[in-house]
Amino acid sequence: MALQRLNIVNIRNISRQELIFSNDINVLYGSNGSGKTSVLEAIYMLSTGKSFRAQRMAAAVQHGAEGAVIEAWMQNTSIKLQKKGAKKAQFFVANQVTNSIVELARLLPVQLLSLQGYQLLNAPPEERRKFFDWTMFHVEPGFLKLWQDFHRTLKQRNAVLRDKYSQNDGALNFWTEKLVETGCDLHETRLRVLKDWLEYTKNYCQDMPGVKNLSLDYLPGWNAEEVDYAERLALSLRQDSALGYTRFGPHRADLQISVAGEPAQQMLSTGQQKTFVAALQLAQSQWVADCTDKHPVLLIDDLPSELDKQARAKLSETLSKTPSQIFITSVEKKAFSTLLKTRPQKMFHVEHGLVTASAASNVASPKSVSKQAVNPLETA
Ligand SMILES: Nc1ncnc2c1ncn2[C@@H]1O[C@H](COP(=O)(O)OP(=O)(O)O)[C@@H](O)[C@H]1O
Ligand SMILES: [Mg+2]
Repeated sequence: MALQRLNIVNIRNISRQELIFSNDINVLYGSNGSGKTSVLEAIYMLSTGKSFRAQRMAAAVQHGAEGAVIEAWMQNTSIKLQKKGAKKAQFFVANQVTNSIVELARLLPVQLLSLQGYQLLNAPPEERRKFFDWTMFHVEPGFLKLWQDFHRTLKQRNAVLRDKYSQNDGALNFWTEKLVETGCDLHETRLRVLKDWLEYTKNYCQDMPGVKNLSLDYLPGWNAEEVDYAERLALSLRQDSALGYTRFGPHRADLQISVAGEPAQQMLSTGQQKTFVAALQLAQSQWVADCTDKHPVLLIDDLPSELDKQARAKLSETLSKTPSQIFITSVEKKAFSTLLKTRPQKMFHVEHGLVTASAASNVASPKSVSKQAVNPLETA
């Protein structure tokens, strides 16, 4: 899964850059505003089709430039993003156009560990749902279809609930039945797959700083232990009709995270939350790797600089064990890397949008990088 080579043209302050990475750890260091996060952002955009720090991808295109190109080569394939002017970005896999972001995510799964990550604990349920559905997506081949079927049906039922006339002609019964069917499929699949993942995650995270008696519970989106989904929808029909939407179901699922019987965000300090969420994410990557043999690429943005000594040591111990390819940004060259010396590292100095492989690296360049011609502006 390792990203061997990356070309960036006109992303933020990076005008043109060709980079060859280590399959192990890549440390990008340099002062604030030098362009470190922009490199991670470029990788993230190839995997997800969006930036993690801008609503619109256009914001990442260099001011004054007509377009941008990002291209990455992995062992057996390549992904390219091309953005021209105001047009939508186009994606290519092995030089063939693709409209499927899902395909990108499967080819290059990435996980971002950043300062904002710890907000997962305080965020609305949607964020935690996305978090466990990321596991679902990678380890359960049929999950995406189940998810899409359910959400399409939900949309139809909600439309009928808003339209008072069509409720008389059986449309509501039809879509309710279908919602029960697709909702139960989705719920049961989550229940089955998440059971082991939650257990694994709990074991992985339970000795993080401040974490005692950790419990992780999947909440299905209704009181599924008391009533089945059909009954729940029947009970809430009148109110759903009045409101014009479906209140209960897998679209309301959540993950309840408690430490010593209290919500984790109340029990853990901000620093502890950061390490804890990082550990949750690492556990997730490891689980996906164990289940699928695909190791998500880890993008770690500035995180180490925010952690105290104990948290850094714990995190680096955890990172040392993962075989994933890692990209770490840091203002200080040695901030974190010294703790990870058990794994080979390649150091990159970033300065005013220029990224230079530094002589301090303790890893040789990968022997076989793709031989494909590299001229990112050719098609831009
Ligand atoms: N669209 C853009 N065009 C050109 N420069 C940009 C654009 N967006 C941000 N920048 C600049 O790019 C630099 C890169 O920032 P960033 O990657 O966040 O740096 P670091 O992570 O090293 O602190 C910043 O100096 C910022 O001012
Ligand atoms: Mg940064």
